[in-house]
Amino acid sequence: MAGKAVMHAVQYDSYGGGVAGLKHVEVPVPTPNKDEALLKVEAASINPIDWKLQKGMLRPFLPRKFPFIPASDVAGEVIGLGSEVKNFKVGDKVVAVLSGGGLAEFAVAKESLTVARPQEVSAAEGAGIPCAGLTAHQALTQSLGVKLDGSGQQKNILITAASGAVGLYAVQLAKLGNTHVTATCGARNIELVKSLGADEVLDYKTPDGAALKSPSGRKYDAVINCVTGIPWSTFEPNLGTTGKVIDFNPSPRVLLTFAWKKLTFSKKQLVPFSVSPKGENLDFLVKLVKEGKLKTVIDSKHSLSKAEDAWAKSISGRATGKIIVEP
Ligand SMILES: NC(=O)c1ccc[n+]([C@@H]2O[C@H](COP(=O)([O-])OP(=O)(O)OC[C@H]3O[C@@H](n4cnc5c(N)ncnc54)[C@H](OP(=O)(O)O)[C@@H]3O)[C@@H](O)[C@H]2O)c1
Repeated sequence: MAGKAVMHAVQYDSYGGGVAGLKHVEVPVPTPNKDEALLKVEAASINPIDWKLQKGMLRPFLPRKFPFIPASDVAGEVIGLGSEVKNFKVGDKVVAVLSGGGLAEFAVAKESLTVARPQEVSAAEGAGIPCAGLTAHQALTQSLGVKLDGSGQQKNILITAASGAVGLYAVQLAKLGNTHVTATCGARNIELVKSLGADEVLDYKTPDGAALKSPSGRKYDAVINCVTGIPWSTFEPNLGTTGKVIDFNPSPRVLLTFAWKKLTFSKKQLVPFSVSPKGENLDFLVKLVKEGKLKTVIDSKHSLSKAEDAWAKSISGRATGKIIVEP
């Protein structure tokens, strides 16, 4: 497969450009390094970070070079192996986290960030998991100390934008962790978010929803904040004495508030968050999906030839769950 074979891929050549910046190209099939597997991509999922990188959010560090094939969450079949790969063989179905390269027919994945995909988990369900699932998992277990076997002390948790990709995984995992979940989402998704376990749901377009007020009058021990731009003054009155806000979008204002809370020894904290993907956690999440304890909610599926539609949907901020692209 390696060598001169070519494949269809979608890439961009520079920062900016949005949907119009995406180009359909024929490029060589990548060759796996010694610690990588070559995958035939069966599904990829889009995350906001994909188009934020294109916008230049992490300029000049990422993307490392242009042209760049975006998307890091994939499910596929192993069709080639680097010399040091021990745990996979040709024909294995897997889920993987890449450093880009997902919007293509073939991609290379590091063995350490590749996990087996059982037949009960479809390619689309698997491809949905990595970035959003690992973010929800890390925020709950690492940042908040929630034990997903339900053995910890019960906490009150608010999850904002619970209808988004991260939020939907977070609601389900938080319930496995025996927490009381208050969630915010738009009116159209209230029933969905309740059906996945949220104890109370606020429509973010109502005054109480915008104020993040728990309908049962609870104060939150923690907030998993998936929304950009909610000021600290909105969170503050809703937090318990040692309440923590985990913020996924560390803007300069978030970082200033974080520093101020630290300097003033505030018991209420704002914690900037960045996901660091781990194979063992991805494996854990894929197994939860297999066991029916975690669902990937799919917003929409798009063919690779229409990757622009998937890109535009993610940029719109209106997805309910995961946006999937299938070669
Ligand atoms: N720091 C990290 O490591 C990290 C990792 C992963 C994600 N993130 C960030 O986390 C955020 C969430 O990611 P995602 O993939 O879950 O996003 P997403 O799927 O694009 O979120 C879309 C959802 O958000 C809802 N929404 C929008 N504004 C809202 C508001 N004010 N209140 C309540 N719901 C609202 C929308 O509902 P309606 O359509 O009804 O408006 C839609 O269902 C993104 O900003 C992403 O970049 C950061």
